[in-house]
Amino acid sequence: MYQLRRNRRLRTTEAIRSLVREHTISPTDFLVPLFIVEGLQIKEEISSMPGYYRYSLDLLKDEVKEIWSLGLKSVLLFVKVPDHLKDNKGTEALNPDGLMQRAIKTVKEVAPELLVMTDVALDPYSSYGHDGIVEDGYIVNDPTCNILAQMSLSHAMAGADFVAPSDMMDGRILAIRELLEKESYKNTGIMSYSAKYASAFYGPFRDALDSAPGFGDKKTYQMDFSNRDEAVKETLMDIDEGADIVMVKPGLAYLDIVRDIRDVVDVPVAVYQVSGEYAMLKAAAEKGWLDHDAIMMEQLIAFKRAGAHIIASYFAKDVVKLLG
Ligand code: PBG
Repeated sequence: MYQLRRNRRLRTTEAIRSLVREHTISPTDFLVPLFIVEGLQIKEEISSMPGYYRYSLDLLKDEVKEIWSLGLKSVLLFVKVPDHLKDNKGTEALNPDGLMQRAIKTVKEVAPELLVMTDVALDPYSSYGHDGIVEDGYIVNDPTCNILAQMSLSHAMAGADFVAPSDMMDGRILAIRELLEKESYKNTGIMSYSAKYASAFYGPFRDALDSAPGFGDKKTYQMDFSNRDEAVKETLMDIDEGADIVMVKPGLAYLDIVRDIRDVVDVPVAVYQVSGEYAMLKAAAEKGWLDHDAIMMEQLIAFKRAGAHIIASYFAKDVVKLLG
């Protein structure tokens, strides 16, 4: 008796394995998150994200040049706002000369062809560290959407190619799209964090921006991680409201959600490998418990296999250097 089908034939050498490989990673898969601070000559390591830094605008220029030279073509900007500029309404978010608006211009100045996406949410600007306006301890929806739309317009005016609302208010995609259209920013895109879960994996990011909620948690707006069908509902609604790209966040623990969404939508799907995922691998690798590069690649391929077209990842530069 012999076997008619021997699956191992397709695994005998690296040449045949690469010939039949279903998923690969390339520099154009990535969105590179960048953390920006006020000041000069600042490149400070984020303590819970070893090897990841906050940059002042002058040093941001060198970082952006390096990103572009590595073949990475898209960045996602986040700003750390000084405490004295924070209030309940996120007033500073609309300042045409605010840190985000200057950061957008700085990036475009050094790398005009780089795609610039901006985080849109109130938390870095909020004295309460919440993604929206707080009234009587509740994050109010519709007034927040109004500010998010104005914030998006302000980013578009500064030169952002895409805005990325990460707040999970109801109806914010429609509010943003309507204002951008009305003001003739028809080609400014929206990447919606459409299935964003209330997750403890965001801890290191909140250290990076000093944006942890001052009271309570984010469970009245971000999704309950026990839910799966709800992610599809959220995502389809965002597409109806005008989202060009949809996103699932966090990444690794939510691959089922990535696949569910990929199966039903006709727009590109992004996934965010968040700060806690980065921190876990860095910590295990530091202890010598896991092989950093091997695990990094395995996880990134898992995102592609699950159905993601785009990956926001703090590993983007590491990967591209490894790919050579
Ligand atoms: C802000 C925002 C957060 C992240 C991206 N945008 C934090 C949060 O919602 O509390 C998390 C990213 C990460 O952990 O890497 N709304």
